[in-house]
Amino acid sequence: MKNAEIFRTKDGSIGLYNRELDEIYHSKEGAQKESIEKFIIPSAFEKRTQKASSIRVLDICYGIGYNSKNALVFYKNCDITIDALEWDEELVRYSKEAEFFDPKINEFLCAKRTLGKSKINFYIDDARKSIKGLNERYDVIFLDAFAPNKLPTLWSYDFFKELKRLMKPKGVLVTYSSALPVRNALYSNGFFLAKALDEKGHSYLSAAALNKDVLFWAENLVALDDKDFGLMKTRAGIVYRDENLCSTPEDMLKRRENEVKESNLMGASAYLKHYGSADA
Ligand SMILES: C[S@@+](CC[C@H](N)C(=O)[O-])C[C@H]1O[C@@H](n2cnc3c(N)ncnc32)[C@H](O)[C@@H]1O
Repeated sequence: MKNAEIFRTKDGSIGLYNRELDEIYHSKEGAQKESIEKFIIPSAFEKRTQKASSIRVLDICYGIGYNSKNALVFYKNCDITIDALEWDEELVRYSKEAEFFDPKINEFLCAKRTLGKSKINFYIDDARKSIKGLNERYDVIFLDAFAPNKLPTLWSYDFFKELKRLMKPKGVLVTYSSALPVRNALYSNGFFLAKALDEKGHSYLSAAALNKDVLFWAENLVALDDKDFGLMKTRAGIVYRDENLCSTPEDMLKRRENEVKESNLMGASAYLKHYGSADA
């Protein structure tokens, strides 16, 4: 591939690294593992497909498609329509032949077989442009963009406002990020929030929904606590802004940096000291 190098992740699945951007697309611990643990399980995907005859998924940052592919694996007599957003066409092409544990999914992507009435539609453009043209409502939204402090474009208050418009009343949005500006932007848009905890009690993802109860269809999710909300309201939780969904990442980072500098809010470390724990 022109833009990315392939490497083997610890669970045996393949991952991608972009030397120019110095960005990895998949966790070194396991690309497949990450997709299951941070997207499929917290969206209660299997439960949703057992309950409904059809569901609609928005996969933002499709890459080589782990999240869409795993969604199709969890297909249980349920027709899945996926709208997949990705600006790198080469990745989408490669995804159709990229090693994946269930070969029937690649056959489906290459239109060599069907999976019930399931469908996948690709939108090859900046996801900010693509979502403006979408009018469907989604049961599940996967957001797997590059890290917010490097590329904030898909993590702004304004982008989440658009995602709220596209969410079904019982829909869920899941992302690997637990960054404070991300959580605060979701919360400020009126989403209820949940997180998952690792063995050490550290939170490692965020899930958001317009109906609180649906968050807990996923067995590994817990509600945010007072400390999470307190931290979100510190300077560290100041959101990224992108009013017309066309700012450059540099402008967004600069704008936020200035807002942080001028803010009277408490800093995150002062908050933690006050709260009495260094374990955020
Ligand atoms: C962390 S990787 C996602 C990995 C992917 N979910 C997978 O299973 O392979 C981030 C992806 O977002 C894409 N991307 C980044 N910014 C984008 C944007 N504004 N619009 C559309 N795609 C974008 C990149 O090309 C990259 O493929």
